[in-house]
Amino acid sequence: MPAVLHTVAEWRARKAGLSPGAKIGLVPTMGALHAGHASLFSAARRDCDFVLATLFVNPTQFDDPADLARYPRTLDADLALMAEAGVDAVFAPPVGELYPSDTGTRYTVQEDQFSRTLCGAHRPGHFTGVLTVVLKLLQIAAASRAYFGEKDWQQLQLVRGMAAAFFLETEIVACPTLREADGLALSSRNRHLSPAERALAPQFYKTLCTAPDAASATARLAALGFAVDYVEDLSEAPERTRRLAAARLGSTRLIDNVSLPIARS
Ligand code: PAF
Repeated sequence: MPAVLHTVAEWRARKAGLSPGAKIGLVPTMGALHAGHASLFSAARRDCDFVLATLFVNPTQFDDPADLARYPRTLDADLALMAEAGVDAVFAPPVGELYPSDTGTRYTVQEDQFSRTLCGAHRPGHFTGVLTVVLKLLQIAAASRAYFGEKDWQQLQLVRGMAAAFFLETEIVACPTLREADGLALSSRNRHLSPAERALAPQFYKTLCTAPDAASATARLAALGFAVDYVEDLSEAPERTRRLAAARLGSTRLIDNVSLPIARS
């Protein structure tokens, strides 16, 4: 099992014992781990000398207290998966360690443009919470590289932007989305889907891949029974579009994104 460290001081003491110049790979998580996280650990294991995972359900990125309360917490299974994936240590602080009483939540990182669109338009304050905790974790870890999944594409772009804006020395590495055989993107939230919702869920990805435009994807998903927050097409490269979407099945919110070639008429 990886060593579990609860305080910044414990991590700094562990880090001081590493060989000089050892490359640290950081994988920030909120736990409830699955094969998608395992792929981030493997990438860090491949590239770095020491793999540090963080396990912290960050309260400031939840706009809905009920969502925070029901976020799955599966510590024993998470530690077993980390051991299997070759994680060396896990930083799992209590809330007061990252938000100590003197500074609390008064200091935040806010991006004023992209964070207000897409998921940010539906979850006010979400990305301020994400960027704030990610900056704290990057500062604490002082890693060479930090690994993030492309499934949270907007999060990934915002973290990249923050790293550039604040001249952070950690390289932000993107890892591809992992999917079930039927196309559903792996997510800690999938375990909340009822059997009927789980059977319908793969239509989300399928529709994003096949609908001719965002409006048709929205209409198709709504007809299938999804409560659609948004589907949007963003231009990504001269020849490609990034289609991003969020929709609810019952009380479970799914997000996904795909890179599509621009259709030529
Ligand atoms: O993607 C997540 O799991 C979280 O948003 C992160 C990056 C660990 C920050 O809490």
